[in-house]
Amino acid sequence: MAVVFDEKKMVFTLQTRNSTWQMQVGRYGHLLHLYYGRKIQDGSLDYLVRGINRGFSGAPYEAGEDRSYSLDTYPQEYPAYGVGDYRTSCLNAEHGDGSRAAELLFDSYEIRKGKYRLDGLPAVWAEDKESETLKVVLKDKSSQVKVVLYYGVLEEYDVITRACQVRNEGEGIWLDRVLSACLDLQRSDLEMITFYGRHTMERSLERGMCRHGKIVADSIRGTSSHQQNPFVILCEKGAGEGWGECYGISLVYSGNFLAEAEMDQIGQTRFVMGIHPEGFRWRLERGESFTAPEVVFAFSEKGYGNLSRKFHRLYRERLNRGKYRNARRPVLLNNWEATEFHITEEDMVSLAASAKELGVELFVMDDGWFGGRDHDRCGLGDWMPNRKKLPSGVTGLAEKIHGMGMMFGIWIEPEMVNEDSGLYRVHPDWCMQVPGRTPNRERGQLALDMSRREVRDYLFESIGSILKEARVDYVKWDMNRSLSDVWSVSCPSCRQGEILHRYVLGVYELMERFTSSFPDILWEGCSGGGGRFDAGILYYMPQIWCSDNTDAVERISIQYGTSFGYPVSSMGAHVSASPNLQTKREMSLETRGIVAMAGVLGYELDVRKLSQDEREAIKEQIRWYKEHQELILNGDYYRLTAVEENPDYAAWQFVSRDQETSLVSAVCLHARSNPPFLRVRLKGLRENMWYRIRCEMFEGRDKQKTELGTEDNGTGGEEAKEMICLGSGLMYAGVNLPVFDRDYQSVRYVVEAVDR
Ligand code: DGJ
Repeated sequence: MAVVFDEKKMVFTLQTRNSTWQMQVGRYGHLLHLYYGRKIQDGSLDYLVRGINRGFSGAPYEAGEDRSYSLDTYPQEYPAYGVGDYRTSCLNAEHGDGSRAAELLFDSYEIRKGKYRLDGLPAVWAEDKESETLKVVLKDKSSQVKVVLYYGVLEEYDVITRACQVRNEGEGIWLDRVLSACLDLQRSDLEMITFYGRHTMERSLERGMCRHGKIVADSIRGTSSHQQNPFVILCEKGAGEGWGECYGISLVYSGNFLAEAEMDQIGQTRFVMGIHPEGFRWRLERGESFTAPEVVFAFSEKGYGNLSRKFHRLYRERLNRGKYRNARRPVLLNNWEATEFHITEEDMVSLAASAKELGVELFVMDDGWFGGRDHDRCGLGDWMPNRKKLPSGVTGLAEKIHGMGMMFGIWIEPEMVNEDSGLYRVHPDWCMQVPGRTPNRERGQLALDMSRREVRDYLFESIGSILKEARVDYVKWDMNRSLSDVWSVSCPSCRQGEILHRYVLGVYELMERFTSSFPDILWEGCSGGGGRFDAGILYYMPQIWCSDNTDAVERISIQYGTSFGYPVSSMGAHVSASPNLQTKREMSLETRGIVAMAGVLGYELDVRKLSQDEREAIKEQIRWYKEHQELILNGDYYRLTAVEENPDYAAWQFVSRDQETSLVSAVCLHARSNPPFLRVRLKGLRENMWYRIRCEMFEGRDKQKTELGTEDNGTGGEEAKEMICLGSGLMYAGVNLPVFDRDYQSVRYVVEAVDR
């Protein structure tokens, strides 16, 4: 039983494989948080919650002279504003009389097999036999407002999901803040790890101690954003990859979000997460309800490496859906960095033909194929092929590509419109724009009002008719601006605070329509690279273009940061030209390959311009990747170095689920004169298993000379071509990396179990 209710003590206990979450209905009816952390087999932890009479922290009326019981200091599951808790809250509602109080008291509960679903919102899914749902209904003491808290317990996946629904059974109210979940931890030793960034440099790790007051990671850009990611970690001070208590918290949502940690006056830390209240206001009439998106919680007492692997497995297996959840991902060539908007059918065919010879399986035609799209200031919204560029249309081009034995894909950006487009000329009112104001342009484009059904219908019909007619196997769904000038004719003026969330709901509805109508298509999310890299998108699309930065060194850091909350199988990663388009950095094909092969591999360069040697090298990369794709995308991923701490080199490792095969890659970031010896300790192997470790690739060098060790154990013999070592040796003593003699040199090892 993953969920247990002790009626006598009124204690709910949620158990996963390695963690326990416990809460209790307090003596005056509030739902108090008791514990979330390392697994505790049995028993109530209600003794943990104590109170003393503190000045300026009042008590509920019912407590009478019991001044020790204060909502201002007691840990809670879903705190609300206005009733004596002055910390950050989850709910702030305005009643008909203008008051803003909600004292949420326990009303009822239900425990059932299987996991709850959220209408119109993405959420982790689970089989009935592997999950349980706890539903707790809280009711405001003095109004007809109810809050239903949902807890999904996926015991084997070792995670707890939460969501909530506000139901109004009385006169209309305004919701100004409805966050999804709260985690009230009675400790002051926590750091918060967040992932900040910018366009072309997403998800850089930053950590800092929680301190008195608030630390925030958020977005009010209408998307989850390049600037902050809706995945955070709370960990004990100093926690690392392999040690320390860590809580991973991930919002399954693609719009504005708030993740906030507040340490209170007595050193307790409250964490809340959900839709950002800024600009949000939702009207709830009698009989209506509002559902807040899901938050996924995982706990690890063994550091954040372990935590990441829980999210990787969960998101691969129980968030992703559809054919490509399990199917092999084709190696693709995308034309964007080769031609940008300059598309011709002839060029596309010749690029594809050249790529085909290399072993590329899927050709993707990016931006520029439709309407009058010659540059970024025109054409968006006109979803019909540009016949000057593509005389035989998308259908004809798709046939030609298929005729070569390749799959074919296209780029779309459904949510946007250029003023210079047929769509805008006919429907200027379909974009988001405040009447009487000039809108903010970004990349020369405006955002369509995705809250409107007719806008979504147009997009589904126009883009859908191409997908129906042409043999399209892949679609990249891009989104190239932040939202502003938010205003819609779909709501009266007093309800404009609903639009940003309705926009996201509209996007989800359209994504659901497309992905269910075209289930054989591989969908890749994108927002100027990784500006909408979040768990919400992964419900509809198994992979997301990680960044518009394709420089391999920068990508090491972007993919490293992304890997904390998202699986390798979700990261689109391409080998691009050298010098790199964004940084002008020159880099060997081997190193560009080794980095892109730590994701869903693709190529994004003019393959026709490659030398014969480069062509041979790419053929080998693709052959190698196809052989190891299963291990890379579905194996366990280990970060062996920390980008933020190690300027010298980066290393990472993939381990098969049976722990018998592993791949280790390392890239020198900064070559040193008179260099120190570098050594990495491998992870995830079996202590008592023997492994052969051999160097497969040492860029620019004879791969036999890998300096793994010497055959006679360091006494002057020949350099070892390979070594046989115990797993414990490889993990605890480590492996010598070669002496790198220039920047960006890379090396790769294959580790395989052997009988001995
Ligand atoms: C931004 C994407 O991230 C790029 O890969 C490319 O598709 C461009 N948009 C096209 O406009």
